Amino acid sequence: MKKYILKHSDIYKGNLILVNKEHKINTEINSNNLVSFNNNYSNILLDESANKFLQIILKEINGLNQIIPVSGYRSLMEQEEIYFSSIKENGEDFTKKYVALPNSSEHQTGLAIDLGLNTGKIDFIRPSFPNSRICDNFRKTSINYGFIERYESEKENITGIGKEEWHFRYVGYPHSVIMKEKNLCLEEYINYLRQYEKDSLKYKNYEISYIPYNNEDIELTIENNTVISGNNVDGFIITRNMHEK
Ligand code: DAL
Ligand code: ZN
Repeated sequence: MKKYILKHSDIYKGNLILVNKEHKINTEINSNNLVSFNNNYSNILLDESANKFLQIILKEINGLNQIIPVSGYRSLMEQEEIYFSSIKENGEDFTKKYVALPNSSEHQTGLAIDLGLNTGKIDFIRPSFPNSRICDNFRKTSINYGFIERYESEKENITGIGKEEWHFRYVGYPHSVIMKEKNLCLEEYINYLRQYEKDSLKYKNYEISYIPYNNEDIELTIENNTVISGNNVDGFIITRNMHEK
């Protein structure tokens, strides 16, 4: 058992933060806390847990040579550079569809990765990640390790971003599986969890609940089996693994 104080600033941290035009990055993360994808791509940085599971997936599907990382963590400055140079090169409509506004990009969290099929020529903004065997294998397997396909075509009107079959976001297990089963994008899922304030959402050995932040620090006593994440909006999501004590 551990005592934990949740402060207002904790809303903006964790695997489940919702980052979009309405819910911007609140605090720039310290890139020193990120890790390199691997030695061959040392400039591609990611959150440590996200990269740990990404490597497990690529190993499991034997995809390390065929699938390559194209873009991981971006600083605010890098996102600005990408956004404004794309406006110049590709125009406003294209850019708004495929590049998030500075401070609205998941790439600034270290939890998002763009992947490309290694075909020699890689488009940086829209890498090719087609419905080939290896890419589909990645899509299927990654759900079991906490990753979601963040921008699907049927959710465009909610996410505000076009279909990006190359952009994967780490949210953690079992959230990725629940989102897939219920066909919810992250905006919808964060909203959906609001009903589990008193009760909890049960999935296999997990119990998931929501705690709103009401302008006062929240004192919690938690066990080692519990993971807390802010939602970047108004509260916290608590995930308990009932098999672990
Ligand atoms: N391409 C995604 C939306 C980004 O720029 O974050
Ligand atoms: Zn991306």
